[in-house]
Amino acid sequence: MTETSFDVKTIRRDFPILNREVNGKPLVYLDNAATSQTPQQVIDVIVDYYQNYNANIHRGVHSLSQEATDAYEAARIKIQKHFNIAKSHEVIFTSGTTHGINLVANGFSSFIKEGDEILVSAMEHHSNIVPWQMLAERTGAVLKVIPMNQNGELVMEEFYALLSNKTKLVFCNHISNALGTINPIEEIIHAAHNIGAAVLVDGAQAAPHIKADLQALNVDFYTISAHKVCGPTGVGMLYGKEEWLKKLPPYQGGGEMIAEVTFEKTTYADLPHKFEAGTPNICGGIGFGAALDYMNRIGFENIASYEDELLQYATEQLLAIEGLKIYGTAKNKTSVISFNIQDIHPYDIGTILDKLGIAVRTGHHCAQPIMDFYQIPGTVRASFCFYNTKEEVDILVKGVERAKNMLL
Ligand code: ALA
Repeated sequence: MTETSFDVKTIRRDFPILNREVNGKPLVYLDNAATSQTPQQVIDVIVDYYQNYNANIHRGVHSLSQEATDAYEAARIKIQKHFNIAKSHEVIFTSGTTHGINLVANGFSSFIKEGDEILVSAMEHHSNIVPWQMLAERTGAVLKVIPMNQNGELVMEEFYALLSNKTKLVFCNHISNALGTINPIEEIIHAAHNIGAAVLVDGAQAAPHIKADLQALNVDFYTISAHKVCGPTGVGMLYGKEEWLKKLPPYQGGGEMIAEVTFEKTTYADLPHKFEAGTPNICGGIGFGAALDYMNRIGFENIASYEDELLQYATEQLLAIEGLKIYGTAKNKTSVISFNIQDIHPYDIGTILDKLGIAVRTGHHCAQPIMDFYQIPGTVRASFCFYNTKEEVDILVKGVERAKNMLL
């Protein structure tokens, strides 16, 4: 797939925000790992909901409530199909990846005991570290770390050495938000299952690039956020195997998650409602489904091969800048480039780039252990989406050169 055959110009017309200026310069949006932009097709679905059928779901007999319920449940089915999930009630709507991870970590308090071991990879986002530390504190379990090497790849021999009959859970991201590394989750899941441990994969960064087949992966839990896949913020999904979701206790109590309530005792609703207390982000869920439709129309194979092309081009162009070092050079990586130039603070480069209309993220990217590993305060991170262009890469490279000349 080449840029010409991909027709990025037509795709860009779907994203009104890409036409705006920032600081008097055309916006070059390269912070897609933080959040992706929303196409008009998804914005229209959101507006249509509020203009025409805004109502609470699963509650009313009136027509608006039925329409909203149907659209929300249709979105659940879209998510189920997208990830090849066996049963629609294995799709739990959440507020995002962090919510999904906390739901599982909280539920596992009932199954984990003192001395049990929990493995977490060295390249996790704080949202896939802190909930497990909290679980370890509550239960007396021991958190162990699967190390990574200088390229930002997990050291698989060390992973195998850490596995034992004490291991109960393994947590790993599918793709690192700070480095772009695509982790060998198939191998991790297989090895963990062989010793009877369950696996949760944080798919937040993978979902925009890879259409994961969750039945083929045989993963126990997989969680993502809609706003990384051209959908709205504040909504996401947690996949859990039915057998686990049945065993886990509810995360929050409230309306919608009950079967029967008396002051003496409450019984819980069936899946998925047991985990969906309160009025959900109805419009967000419907928008999430529309966003997956949009991305599937473009096609994930097309997206991945075009983004790979952008990644190769941007890597070559940036490495031509003397003194620039890329963190995260795994063989298998996606369109995220984290870099520094000598000892210039990433924040200073990011501030100058913003003046030039270029949006990147700077700092530790909620992955402080990775920064500690490389002994740096943070990085500048440019993350590319299928609507970015090689011309935008050129603008970034010129901007970085300019920042370097100003700051060194
Ligand atoms: N996790 C998001 C990022 O990497 C917010 O920027």
